[in-house]
Amino acid sequence: MSHTPLIQDHFSAPELAGWQHRLGVAHPMAVSRSPLVSLDHPAVVAELAARLSPPELARLRDLTLVKRRQEWLAGRLAAKHAACRVLRQAAAGPEPAWPEIAVINQPAGRPALTLLAGSPRLLPQISISHSHGWAVAMAVMGAPCGIDLQRISAKTLKLRERFCLLREQEEVTRLTGAQASPEQGLTLLWAAKEAVRKGVVKEALPGFLAMELVEVHCPAAGQWVLILTLGASGARHAVAATFWRDFALAFTVDEQGCLDCRGLGCRL
Ligand SMILES: CC(C)(COP(=O)(O)OP(=O)(O)OC[C@H]1O[C@@H](n2cnc3c(N)ncnc32)[C@H](O)[C@@H]1OP(=O)(O)O)[C@@H](O)C(=O)NCCC(=O)NCCS
Repeated sequence: MSHTPLIQDHFSAPELAGWQHRLGVAHPMAVSRSPLVSLDHPAVVAELAARLSPPELARLRDLTLVKRRQEWLAGRLAAKHAACRVLRQAAAGPEPAWPEIAVINQPAGRPALTLLAGSPRLLPQISISHSHGWAVAMAVMGAPCGIDLQRISAKTLKLRERFCLLREQEEVTRLTGAQASPEQGLTLLWAAKEAVRKGVVKEALPGFLAMELVEVHCPAAGQWVLILTLGASGARHAVAATFWRDFALAFTVDEQGCLDCRGLGCRL
């Protein structure tokens, strides 16, 4: 196994608290990351298998493409790690053992946690993304969330008309500054829109052009809060956006989609 820890908190506790404050998120939340690892070594497989539930192990056996197996697995590890962090923050009773919780995909693909043993309890909402060797996941107690990791890529230059307006392009180019390449700003906007698409619970995922960047805040160097409006209602979504290595990372919590969890151990 490589020296990179298998699963890590993506942010330190003060960094995470800063993002929660900037996004106005009162719910316990966590963001984790996991590198994609080779599943060739039996010891690695055994270690990872111990963290999966029986239905997850069955699903992993069904996946044949190597890259998909690795992404799928890293996403699940990151999601379970983030979920356990959130359960701890929410003081929501004893943490379930990892094999007792399963990450499932709802029919349209949205990931969710399900408890396979023990008394019924509220579990966090989760979101997963993978890109070029890494998976990230976020978990939030009581509100839907969306996360997206995108490697900075020149393909955003070719595709820009499909996902943003000229005015938005100018805005993201301005916000990332003269030192940044145009694809950095465009990838950041792409990731922000993907995060909103995943975070807002709708029957069908909204199109990229149904979202519009209307406001940008830069509370600290290299950290942005992008305000996107969605659809005819003009509902506003605050998205955290930042760079990590050669990736753009964006995440959002849909406070308007807040689930009622009063009395279920979620401190609001
Ligand atoms: C779903 C989608 C947003 C994923 O984005 P992406 O940049 O390609 O991939 P990412 O690695 O960032 O995200 C993948 C994760 O998104 C999550 N996801 C998939 N569908 C989702 C949905 N409807 N809502 C929220 N999250 C979703 C899954 O957890 C998936 O990881 P997993 O399969 O390992 O569980 C994108 O593929 C898309 O727009 N698909 C179109 C919808 C579609 O084809 N649906 C088919 C099912 S009917």
